[in-house]
Amino acid sequence: MAAETKIHNIKDKKDKLIYAGQEHILKYYDKLSLKQREDLLSQILSIDMSLVNELIAMGMTAKEPHPHLEPPCIIPIQDKRYQQAKGKGEEALKDGRIACFVVAGGQSTRLGYNLPKGTFEVGPVSSKSLFQYHAEKIAAMNNRYNTNIPWYIMTSKENDTQTRDFFQRHDFFQLQTKDVIFFEQGMLPAIDFDGKLIMDSPDHIAMSPNGHGGSLLGLKESGALDDMRRRGIKEIFYFQVDNALVKIADPVFIGYHLLEKAEMSTKVVSKIRPDEMVGVVGYINGRLGVIEYTELNDEERYAVNADGSLRFKAGNTAIHMLNVEFVHRLVRDGFHLPYHGARKKIPSLDKHGKLQKPHEPNGIKFETFIFDALRYAKHSVVMEVNRKEEFSPLKNISGQDSPETVRHDLINLYTGWCKAVGLEISDCPIEISPLFAMDSDEFVQRIIDKELWTQPEGLYIGSTG
Ligand code: UTP
Repeated sequence: MAAETKIHNIKDKKDKLIYAGQEHILKYYDKLSLKQREDLLSQILSIDMSLVNELIAMGMTAKEPHPHLEPPCIIPIQDKRYQQAKGKGEEALKDGRIACFVVAGGQSTRLGYNLPKGTFEVGPVSSKSLFQYHAEKIAAMNNRYNTNIPWYIMTSKENDTQTRDFFQRHDFFQLQTKDVIFFEQGMLPAIDFDGKLIMDSPDHIAMSPNGHGGSLLGLKESGALDDMRRRGIKEIFYFQVDNALVKIADPVFIGYHLLEKAEMSTKVVSKIRPDEMVGVVGYINGRLGVIEYTELNDEERYAVNADGSLRFKAGNTAIHMLNVEFVHRLVRDGFHLPYHGARKKIPSLDKHGKLQKPHEPNGIKFETFIFDALRYAKHSVVMEVNRKEEFSPLKNISGQDSPETVRHDLINLYTGWCKAVGLEISDCPIEISPLFAMDSDEFVQRIIDKELWTQPEGLYIGSTG
């Protein structure tokens, strides 16, 4: 009966689809089994076709005129309010007002890794995964501030089960299970260059996660935002799963955000060269946001200040503070960030119904970006941090931002800490567990306190692999 009704429904739906010019998605319908028909039908019914039609129209139209850009006001690395900010952030952590939130729903296309990116092993000596690093940092903050920071993890339909299984298998890395909360982000269909939905099997439309900006609506729709409010969380420390050096719940950043009564804040690093492929934080037609590197024209890209520094130097790290009530206000009425279309290689059925992996982009995926929320914040803090200490994302299989550079950056960081206590380790990769020390100062203290001049637990010195 259920199937019959649904088949009837799909016939109705077919009219609408024909009207929308998408009748090809029912091309194989008559050859499908009942189960496949049901699956296809429920997928069709779950898609917001009016939004998709808007996106198709957007994807086919010309770009907006070039905006007017201005650099932001940046809190420098050496700032006189550093200690005050740190104290303020520590207070918030001790009071249990801070949650951590990692977005881990991406597809890792450039890395070419089929499992969730957080499971990728980056530890230069220990081979620990990104997720383990992040979990240990949160556990270390819990110990340091005698608190229980809840950790929200956004996954997607494609990697949710694998992510949860990974945490189960590792016993949640000693974190309390009630404080690790997973939820799935939304998905959107991909279109080809003629505005047609792409099929990746006879009973399935190709879908992809709706971007890290989808996290804001995801927080609401999953109930995570309400959960935060129930727990008395006031501010969210947002980060992306691929940054191995992220200083999770950094009290200094939290402190500045609180001192400025900011609604959304961001950490930046100085660009290393004008043509570095990183988005820059700045004012876009008067509103704070991130300008993608492809959107800067040459004049802006190479512009310098009187002291010779780059005018647009504030590289986006995708580390943010978000005020819970700000997020609530944004998503209360089904708010959407603007969509960005990107040309991608999307596996699709050829005219014989066979799945093909294209070598060139064959369609457009639509995403929203978290940094587009900056423009809605009444106040924001833009804080500069040291790239070598806080930013090393895993994006590509080789070259820039690859497993090799991430491991190299980790070794560099920890070697620096060792040098600070006079430990000279040559020709040997070194790694320090966040459970042993979270930063150089703590490392020095731990070594002095415990007189640990032999190799202590959590300090791994050894060969890679
Ligand atoms: P990227 O934009 O770098 O995408 O995501 P990616 O999936 O890691 O890699 P590519 O582009 O497919 O090669 C930056 C961060 O945002 C998350 C990712 O998991 C990563 O932490 N993200 C991205 C989501 O959570 N959902 C999305 O839809 C997109």
